[in-house]
Parts: sequence; structure tokens; C-alpha cells
Amino acid sequence: MRHRRTGAAALTIATLALAGCGADSSANTSAKPELKVTGAYMPAPSMDSMAAGFFIVTNSGSADTLTSVTSDLSDDITLHSTKDGTMEEEKSFTVPADGTLDFASGGNHLMFEKLTHRPKQGEKVSVALHFAKSGTVKISMPVQSATYNPKTGH
Ligand code: CU
Repeated sequence: MRHRRTGAAALTIATLALAGCGADSSANTSAKPELKVTGAYMPAPSMDSMAAGFFIVTNSGSADTLTSVTSDLSDDITLHSTKDGTMEEEKSFTVPADGTLDFASGGNHLMFEKLTHRPKQGEKVSVALHFAKSGTVKISMPVQSATYNPKTGH
């Protein structure tokens, strides 16, 4: 969340600076988003009614928006943020220009409900991320232990 806030603030300042000196503010909008998805994983769910998913989107181009997520594992996948420990459903997430969108434990996450089966550790779940400008990005989300921590790798 800290990343998003920093990105949004930087973008606002850049826009103001451009407007201030009369430069063509559309200059940056002709660039395309350049997205890369890394660090995807799903903690092994303890039941078949619900699972979470995490990943990082790195953007080296212009801003894009994550609008929806689909997978064979579930017809009911929603985007959630966490504010003060409370989850909130979000319609979309901005991927800032030259920035990152983090989905991490305790923060933003995907929520898969009514699973077609309960994925086990070692399995890979195919997930399609749908972006407003970049279209569909398919990723393979490895199922890790229920207590997996990407920082330690355990
Ligand atoms: Cu949630």
C-alpha cells in the first residue's frame, strides 16, 4: 500500500509540473504499459470454499489497471485490499506508471471462492490477470505451504 501511495503522489507532482510549464501533458500517455508479474503464489487452502492469491506487478511503462481475474479454480474471484486489518472488495487496482502493484499477505490479495477443488502444495494454478490496456496476462501460481512467507522462502 505504501508503494501505491508513493506512486500516486509522484504521478500527481509530475502532472502538475507538466501543466505548469505548458508542456504537452499527453506526451506520457502515448507510451504503453510494460507489465511483468513475479512472485506469484497461493498459500495451500485449508478448505475448498476459499483461497487467497498473491503476486507483484512491475510496470516499466505507463499506468494500467487490473480489472478482473479469472481461473479454472473458481468462477468467483474478487480483488481485495486490506485497510486497518479489514478487507474491502475493490473493483480494480491501478498499476502506477514506472511503479509496482503489490499483492502481499496482510495487504492486497485475490480471493478465490467456491473452489472447483482444493489445491495441494506443489500444484500450480493457472490464473489470467485482465488489464485495461495490456489485455490478459496468464500466470502460473504455485501452491505453497499454508504458512509460506515469500521473504524467507518457507
Ligand atoms: Cu479478502
